Amino acid sequence: MKRIMVVDDEQVVREGVKRVLESSGEFLVETCSSGQLALERLLDEDFDLVITDLKMPGMSGMEVIQTLKSVYPDVPVVMITGYANVATAVEAMKYGAANYIPKPFKPQELIDNIRAALQTGRGRGEEASLKRELADCGGFGMFIGTSQEMCKVYRRIKQVAPTDSTVLVTGESGTGKELVARALHANSLRSDKPFVAVDCTSLVESLLESELFGHVKGSFTGAVQTKTGLFKVADGGTLFLDEISSMSLTTQAKLLRVLQQREVTPIGATTPIPVDIRLVAATNRPLRAMVQEGSFREDLLFRLNIIPIDLPPLRSRKGDLGLLVSHFLEKFAEELGKDIRGLAPDAMAELEQHPFPGNVRELENIIQRGVVLAEGNLILRSDLELLEQEHAPADDSQYIPHTVDELKETKRILRDKATEPLEKAFVIQALERNNWNITRAAEETGMQRPNFQTLMKKLNISSRSNFSS
Ligand SMILES: Nc1ncnc2c1ncn2[C@@H]1O[C@H](COP(=O)(O)OP(=O)(O)OP(=O)(O)O)[C@@H](O)[C@H]1O
Ligand SMILES: [Mg+2]
Repeated sequence: MKRIMVVDDEQVVREGVKRVLESSGEFLVETCSSGQLALERLLDEDFDLVITDLKMPGMSGMEVIQTLKSVYPDVPVVMITGYANVATAVEAMKYGAANYIPKPFKPQELIDNIRAALQTGRGRGEEASLKRELADCGGFGMFIGTSQEMCKVYRRIKQVAPTDSTVLVTGESGTGKELVARALHANSLRSDKPFVAVDCTSLVESLLESELFGHVKGSFTGAVQTKTGLFKVADGGTLFLDEISSMSLTTQAKLLRVLQQREVTPIGATTPIPVDIRLVAATNRPLRAMVQEGSFREDLLFRLNIIPIDLPPLRSRKGDLGLLVSHFLEKFAEELGKDIRGLAPDAMAELEQHPFPGNVRELENIIQRGVVLAEGNLILRSDLELLEQEHAPADDSQYIPHTVDELKETKRILRDKATEPLEKAFVIQALERNNWNITRAAEETGMQRPNFQTLMKKLNISSRSNFSS
C-alpha cells in the first residue's frame, strides 16, 4: 500500500481526497492542514507521494514543493489547483512537481493522476529496462533515437500511457507528435479500442463540429443523414486532436464542455450521449501566447495541459541522426528494392550541418529522395539535393573520396564490395588534382608516399597517359 500525504488548508478538500484515494484500496492517506506540519511529519515518517494545495496561508504550496524537493528529491509531489493558478502550477513543475490536478476533479481523475505520479518516482528498475530496450532496437516502439531528450519522452509515455489523463503534445512540425499520440494509445489499456485522429486544420468550423460531435438528419442544410461524431467513434479508445490551435473559440467552448461532462450532444440533438475517451491533443503553436492574445481559451488549455509532453527538435539531438538515417535508408531501400548501403561520407557530413527546420519528417523525405536518385550503392551528396551543389563533382554519378579516411569509411559502408573501381578513381583523382605529382597527391590524401605508390602499383596505375582525358 502506498503512503500518501495530503496538504491542504481546507478540511473538505483534505477529507475528500483521502476518501477517494483510500476507496481505491491502493493508498493509505494522511492529511495535514499546513506545509509546516507536513514537513515535520515527513521528518518522522516515509511517504511515497505528497499532494499539496498551491494556495495556502502561511507556507505556500510552492514553498512546500521547493523544500520537499531539496530534502527528498525522489518523493513525487502533485499539486491541486484551480485554473486561476495554472501559471503557478506550471512554474511549480519546473521545481520538480510531478503534475497537477485541476479543481474541480473527478475521483477517477485523481486516482489516475496519483498512479501516474507514483510511476515517476519508481525510477531505477524502469530505467534499466528502458535502457535495455533502447540498446536492442535503437529506440522505443516506433521511435528511433537514444538521446537523453528522447529518453525523457519515452519515460513520460510509459508513465502516462496507462492512465486516462489528457495529454498535450507540443513540438515543432515533424518532430513526431502523432507518433507520441499513437504510442500513448498502444501502451494504454485502451489499445484494443479505436484510435481516432482528427486534423483540426483540415475542416472548416461547421464541418469540424459535426465531424467531432455528429449531427442528426435534417439538423442543417446538407445533413441528409444522421452522422455519428468521432467522439462516439472513438468511444472506449483514444481521440487525437491534431493542431488544436486552429480550433475556433466556439468549438473550443464545446470541446471544453465535452471534457468536463464526458458527454456529447450531436448537432440538432436534444439529449447528450455519454462518451468514454482518452484525449490527446497536439500543437506546434505556443498555446500560452495564444491565450494571451485571446485566440485560445485558458480554461481549455488548463484542461488539456494536465500532462505535457514536449518533443525536442532534431537539431538539438543530432546524436540520433545516424540511427535515423540508417532506419529510413533501410526502409526506403527495401520499399524500392534497391541495394543501397549508406551515405557517402561527405553527404553524411552535410546532413550533420543541416538545421532541419522540418525535423524528422524532413529527414525522412531527404533520405527517400536520396534512395530514389542514387545510382550506385551509395547515396551521394548531390542525391540529397540539400543546397545548391556548388562543389558537386563534374561526374556526379560516382562518389570519389578525397582522403584516405574517406576512402576507408566508404569501403566500410560498401562492406568491401567491388572496391577496386573506387580505389582507382580515388588515386587517379588525387593525382589529377596534383598534376600527377605523387608526393603531393599522397600528402593531400593523408597517405604515406610509399603506401600511395603501393596502391598505385596494385591498381596498375603508372603514368598519366593511360588515364588523362
Ligand atoms: N523519433 C522518431 N523515430 C522514427 N520516426 C520518426 C520519429 N519522429 C518522427 N518520425 C517520423 O517522422 C514523420 C513525422 O512524424 P509525425 O507526423 O508524428 O510528426 P508531427 O510532429 O505530427 O508533425 P506535424 O506537426 O508536421 O504534423 C512520421 O513519418 C514519423 O513516423
Ligand atoms: Mg502531425
